[in-house]
Amino acid sequence: MRSLFESLFRLQQGRALEALASVPGPTPVFLVGNGLDLLGGDLHVKFEEWRARYGDLMRFFLFSQPSLLTAKPEHVVRILVDRPDEWIKNVPRGATAPTGGESVFRAPDRKEWAPKRAAHPFEQRWITESYDALVPRIRELVRARLDARVGQSINLYEEILRVTFDAFAIIVLGETLPPEAFDDHERMLKEVGNRGALPVPFSPSPFFWWRRWRWRKRIAARIARGSLGERATDLVSMMSRAGTDMTKRLVHDELGNVFLAGMKNAALAASSSTFLLTEHTVFGDRVRTELDAAGLDPDRTTLLALPHLDRSVKEAGRLYPSVAGFVREVKPGERIELDGAILPPRTQVFLVSWIVHRHPEIWADPTRFDPDRFLEEPKPGTYFPFGLGLRFCVGRDLTILVAKTVTAEILSRFDVALDPGADYETKLVAVLTIPKRGVPCRLTRRATPRGT
Ligand code: HEM
Repeated sequence: MRSLFESLFRLQQGRALEALASVPGPTPVFLVGNGLDLLGGDLHVKFEEWRARYGDLMRFFLFSQPSLLTAKPEHVVRILVDRPDEWIKNVPRGATAPTGGESVFRAPDRKEWAPKRAAHPFEQRWITESYDALVPRIRELVRARLDARVGQSINLYEEILRVTFDAFAIIVLGETLPPEAFDDHERMLKEVGNRGALPVPFSPSPFFWWRRWRWRKRIAARIARGSLGERATDLVSMMSRAGTDMTKRLVHDELGNVFLAGMKNAALAASSSTFLLTEHTVFGDRVRTELDAAGLDPDRTTLLALPHLDRSVKEAGRLYPSVAGFVREVKPGERIELDGAILPPRTQVFLVSWIVHRHPEIWADPTRFDPDRFLEEPKPGTYFPFGLGLRFCVGRDLTILVAKTVTAEILSRFDVALDPGADYETKLVAVLTIPKRGVPCRLTRRATPRGT
């Protein structure tokens, strides 16, 4: 029976199979291609199995779409940096439509992308003022939340997530949001995953649409109020004082998207750094010593320049990139050759940082946490937690700032005792690498914290 389905696939997709004949991969079957092989497990784990079996460039079919997985740094550089216009960005458009709207995140090609990127609030010169003001606010949020939990058994990932949500509300809107807004946001993110799992994305649940309506209404109401005063540094205030080239609709979509494309990712970056520095006490102690020496409540510039903290956050992003990977698709009309194969129309290429970051021929002892790897610049195409080239993550600087500030505040104020057996095994939820069992631990106040 299987061989009948294999023959039918060959009849249906003979040309694409032939074009990719030199690239190894599993045998596809009629209608689903290799889609069934990807069901039921985590995509990043399956992809790593495939890479180990078929090599650094392998092919598979998602239903009828020819697909490649590459773990070659030279491909990463070529696709993202050297020749980005041969490709379109293949975000799951249907899955992200109700949440991402018109945001730059979803722009398929340079024509649509360039003006949106140039107008994005994170690309404006004034953004450093917003970042500067955010640092002390994050510290307050961490202290307020965690001081109340000292001695209790907690999931530190959840706590960091809540703090990050509040921090994002402060930088975007200038004020925190009520608890139900967090639930609305979670529900919207969940829907991206739900829709992504369907061949034809749709959202039957009226509760989802209701939550989405409530979320958007809240953002719209805040935008309508404009600047919160001459000295307010939140994005809405800054944009309304400085002016913007964005349409009203785009302002709304971009600001909403800062949360939806970035909040959880940033919380994950802070969470993996904190976990790793707690588990690896030698490196944790180095960071603490450096923080103590930096004096009371270092400002943004001081914090960003701390070398041990910097290398640790980078290394956490290598081992646990919050976004496991992303996709490009051959632009219609482009003739692209990759390792001798002429790619058939609609071929998509999966660029999976999770795999390249853990490749044993690129990184020695790849699963070991060793921030000192970053004493040297990584070679081109070997490290891309935030993408590379023109379309690298617009939220990168904010994320690094949030991850460093949260990690620094926790390490300098608290001792973290992880529960016995606590690990950072991840599951993939709509491309995000979430710690399966959270970060279970207990906090005590540090004996000699700074600033007390
Ligand atoms: C750990 C945190 C984050 C990670 C790992 C991450 C990862 C990425 C990656 C890999 C890309 C490139 C995708 C591609 O080339 O197809 C990207 C793009 C993007 N990210 Fe992030 N991101 C993070 C945080 C954020 C934040 C906080 C925001 C808030 C605005 C954000 C918004 C965006 C947008 C709008 C794009 C598209 C940029 C463009 O196309 O010009 N991300 N991100």
